[in-house]
Amino acid sequence: MTIVSAELVCTAAEPCHFPKENLPEVAFVGRSNVGKSSLINSLTKKKKLAFTSSTPGRTQQINFYRINREFCFVDLPGYGFAKAPRERKYQWAELIQYYLGGRDQLVSCVLTIDSRLGPTPLDLERLRWFQQNLLPFIIVSTKSDKLSKAELQKSLNHTKSFSLDTPVIAFSAVSGEGRDQVWQLLCALIYRKTTRS
Ligand code: GTP
Ligand code: MG
Repeated sequence: MTIVSAELVCTAAEPCHFPKENLPEVAFVGRSNVGKSSLINSLTKKKKLAFTSSTPGRTQQINFYRINREFCFVDLPGYGFAKAPRERKYQWAELIQYYLGGRDQLVSCVLTIDSRLGPTPLDLERLRWFQQNLLPFIIVSTKSDKLSKAELQKSLNHTKSFSLDTPVIAFSAVSGEGRDQVWQLLCALIYRKTTRS
């Protein structure tokens, strides 16, 4: 995929801030600190498009990025961040659920799972929700550079066992491993249809 342009459209703290335009959207979902924003930066080859941080809970609102003026990447706040105040966590969860449950422009999700941890209970909850709601998704197993080849293969097999017909891609924002594969799958989903309805 050749990136001609990638820009922030808006940052939404509540549903009324979601962009009104009708481009197809791909949402990046996963626990705090798993590497969602880093994945977006790697895919777009823009180091500073999405804000990344070693401090979990960095992305606190929904960020919409327009890519090539053709589709949007949607960076969601992470879940499972233990230290966030309960009220804040509840607000993030509600915002995420509102977006995923009702956004007509959403064509596909990228469920990001830390390859060192494998799927957490919250990841599995989300995975089952995608299946039940027939929302197309792929799984990206992040931070693959942190594992040996054998460990990574074991982790990928474990993750795959929860959803046999879902692609699971090993990805590293450090080495770029898996980047082309992720693009290939996303392009197929984005250009398959333009809206969910
Ligand atoms: P929240 O916004 O808090 O939900 O986090 P996030 O999922 O967007 O994670 P982010 O991309 O900010 O990355 C979290 C930390 O992990 C940062 O310190 C990144 O540099 C690091 N990181 C992300 N991807 C990789 C990777 O592939 N390999 C390694 N080694 N570190 C990574
Ligand atoms: Mg983030």
